[in-house]
Amino acid sequence: MGTFYISTPIYYVNDLPHIGHIYTTVVADVVARYRRFIGDDVFFLTGTDEHGQSIMKAAERLGIEPQEQADRVVSRYHEHWKTLGISHDDFVRTTEARHRVAVEEMVRRIEASGDFYTDLHEGWYCSSCESFYTERELLPGHRCPTHESETEWQSEENVFFRLSKYQDRLLELYAGETPFVIPPSRANEVRSFVEGGLKDISVSRAGLGWGIPFPGRENEVVYVWLDALTNYLSALGLGSDDASKLDRYWHEGGTRINLIGKDILRFHAIWWPAFLMSAGLPVPSTVAIHGWWLRDDKKISKSVGNIVRPDELIETFGPDALRYFLLREMVFGQDASFSDEAFVDRFNSDLANDLGNTVSRLVKLSRSSFDGKTPPEACSDNPLIAAAESAVAGYHEAMGEFAFNRALASLWKLLSETNQYLVAREPWKLVKSEGPSASVSRILWNGLEAVRIVTTALSPVMPTTAASILAAIGGDAVPVERDTLAWGRTPLDQPLAEPVPLFPRIDKAAFLSGEEGAAAPPKAAASPAPKQAPAQESDMITIEEFFKTQLKMATILTAERIEGTDKLVKLMVDLGEESERTLVAGIAEQYSAEELVGRQIAVVANLKPAKLRGVESQGMLLAASVDGKPVLLGPDSQVPNGTPVK
Ligand code: MSP
Repeated sequence: MGTFYISTPIYYVNDLPHIGHIYTTVVADVVARYRRFIGDDVFFLTGTDEHGQSIMKAAERLGIEPQEQADRVVSRYHEHWKTLGISHDDFVRTTEARHRVAVEEMVRRIEASGDFYTDLHEGWYCSSCESFYTERELLPGHRCPTHESETEWQSEENVFFRLSKYQDRLLELYAGETPFVIPPSRANEVRSFVEGGLKDISVSRAGLGWGIPFPGRENEVVYVWLDALTNYLSALGLGSDDASKLDRYWHEGGTRINLIGKDILRFHAIWWPAFLMSAGLPVPSTVAIHGWWLRDDKKISKSVGNIVRPDELIETFGPDALRYFLLREMVFGQDASFSDEAFVDRFNSDLANDLGNTVSRLVKLSRSSFDGKTPPEACSDNPLIAAAESAVAGYHEAMGEFAFNRALASLWKLLSETNQYLVAREPWKLVKSEGPSASVSRILWNGLEAVRIVTTALSPVMPTTAASILAAIGGDAVPVERDTLAWGRTPLDQPLAEPVPLFPRIDKAAFLSGEEGAAAPPKAAASPAPKQAPAQESDMITIEEFFKTQLKMATILTAERIEGTDKLVKLMVDLGEESERTLVAGIAEQYSAEELVGRQIAVVANLKPAKLRGVESQGMLLAASVDGKPVLLGPDSQVPNGTPVK
């Protein structure tokens, strides 16, 4: 097996991640996990693009420095990637020193090739794309073809890169044996664009913009796309003293994939390889392009204002269900429409019904037939063996082609064949007539073995769920190698725990109408709190001491984030007193204003007031603190405000 490098685009920090960013990152994660599983030496990179006009503008709107804006948003990216189980090996930020060094090295190398010159640059500029457009490309009213927002006329002296010089070499690259751009439809688009003729591009910006100073040019910064594209190598140490990662992962013999959405195709399939050729560095082996998640036929994006933030879906269905949905529902390379309805349908039919029910049925039947254990006798001759072989072959082939929906469909076919096999043999009836016979054992073992193979192959897509299913059917929790997809590994006579529901069905109508309780969420395996020692005698208090603290129930009337803070929210609460009270609480990162208003909480009502960020807090709400993050405490049912807690 070889070395395998995969990157996501680096995301702008003018907004939080939405479903589009999540899709790319999950795809890269699934590929990285799959490659590790089949034995490759993998390097998986993601990060953030922190320079440029749109970040500067976003920071200006908030009245903060661009670096602070970047720091705030980056911490949210880290949280999201953790929640979603993203297994990146590095996270690069373009404001890091190591990145600046790499960009300076790119500029030095391109300069040495004689590919820079200066000239006057004029055109229509979209600061969301950070790109110039020609009149011909614009929508009426000089609006950006991607964001539909107004562009600005800009005119300045810039450094230009001789892109036109690379036209022929690029066309040769596209004509090579291994496709440089996948899928083929996108490759055709790029080829015809380049065949149409390439113009040189400007790679510096005048003025004191927010970016990396252009070496040797006072008051100019490196154009944000030359800056951003270089991230793919700065994380490997380009320009630093340590070239070990660069040598290991960015060489002609290894696989080097830049995964992106179609919005940034030209930058990656034309500019990036041309910069690399000029700099004398290997080009990526593949630029893999996926389509857009759409809502109402429009790209989901902040500028369009039709964002899907996945928090509620993750909260209700767990992160693995979202990962599954994104990969199962979109044909890689094509656009797909996002809808909550499709999400619930997939959850109920594929996960709750096909996967969850098959697992629990087999585990229950094995437990009841074989004294709480897996069957005692295996089977090496039955139709499921061939079915599994063909499912696994189909899965590998599809994974290699980025056809994730096909890979999953191949596994689900095996699940359905397993169910047909069980229905045809009815082991639940056999065990009644024959008792725990050898044939009951073989049938159930075959079923468990097929499910084990499906689950093992599913682990790159649903890592947490796969680990719990494998543990539930008595297998190795963490599949470590490709071989684990071969028939025959389900252990005999292993104790089986009582099955817990993996994917409780969701009441679709209730969920879509936003009713609470539509879902009994399969909470994302929260790590259990470490066991703690009981309180020491010296730490104990008397009941009288405890009752000095007046705890009361209250209802939140209003909630608003305190400006200039990430965490603090100002609440007006009704404690059953003549006037309302103000509380300041550090819960804004976990709860939105809408989630808070109307909610009942427990409050320490006799705490001395304290000022936080200029706001006087007249009490303290109670929350469980899970790894430092608050989870609010509330009553089991509605109670009058002011009710004491004891
Ligand atoms: N910073 C640049 C990329 C520089 S890479 C050297 C950028 N950032 S971005 O924050 O706008 O992210 C763009 C990427 O987010 C897309 O290429 C795609 O991967 C993902 N998506 C954003 N919206 C999307 C959809 N609606 N659908 C699918 N993915 C899209 O561009």
